[in-house]
Amino acid sequence: MIIRRSDEEISEIRSAGKIVALTLEKLKKYAKAGTTTKELEEIASDEILMHGGQAAFKNYKGYPANICTSLNEVVVHGIPSDRSLKEGDILSIDVGVKVKNFYADAAITIGIGRISDTAKTLMKVTEEALYRGIENARPGKRLSDISASIQTFVESNGFSVVRAFVGHGIGEKIHEEPEIPNFGAPDKGPSLEPGVILAIEPMVNAGTFEVEILEDGWTAVTKDRTLSAHFEHTIAVRENGPEILTAA
Ligand code: MF3
Ligand code: CO
Repeated sequence: MIIRRSDEEISEIRSAGKIVALTLEKLKKYAKAGTTTKELEEIASDEILMHGGQAAFKNYKGYPANICTSLNEVVVHGIPSDRSLKEGDILSIDVGVKVKNFYADAAITIGIGRISDTAKTLMKVTEEALYRGIENARPGKRLSDISASIQTFVESNGFSVVRAFVGHGIGEKIHEEPEIPNFGAPDKGPSLEPGVILAIEPMVNAGTFEVEILEDGWTAVTKDRTLSAHFEHTIAVRENGPEILTAA
């Protein structure tokens, strides 16, 4: 069942989303060559608490940190560590926050110092794919219109969309129905109705779409060890179109 949220519930998700956005902005500033991902973890933890939120990922299915920091060939779920960022890296940062009873979730990928042209294009295409998906999150569209618009755009740029992880509904739980694959034919699945809340999150690989999970049980890397990027927003389907609830 896909839940439709009231305006009041949507404002609560927006409050959580605001904290997600502020935290990502802060991390963007601190993510420089020499900074460790553990330091980013601490900064995020302080920022989320300061604004009255709760980190949503910590202990979720046993996940050991407040945020995910996924470097280069890491697709998602990178665990903050003592590793320092270095010039040329790309870093995906994923933040989830709970306020009162509601969750919001967003991710960005940023470059550290000068990065390769491939890395730049990969990041740009992934972010644009997210916005193309969001554009389809409106009444009159069906769920898979989001999926298809993302896949078509990514593949027309020569990259691939990850199959093993998908976007999701979000609200009183971090993952609610429906699942939102970043691939598939258009015009399938449920019709998008006002009040539906979605976390849309394309994960895009420079090489093939295949991923594998490292020994720690979390870190997902590209099987061919090529770069991967990830952008995510929590959005509300509104009468007039999508509203981004995790906007900066
Ligand atoms: N945005 C990711 C997701 O929706 C983050 C989850 S990290 C986890 O699955 F640690 F909480 F699993
Ligand atoms: Co998510």
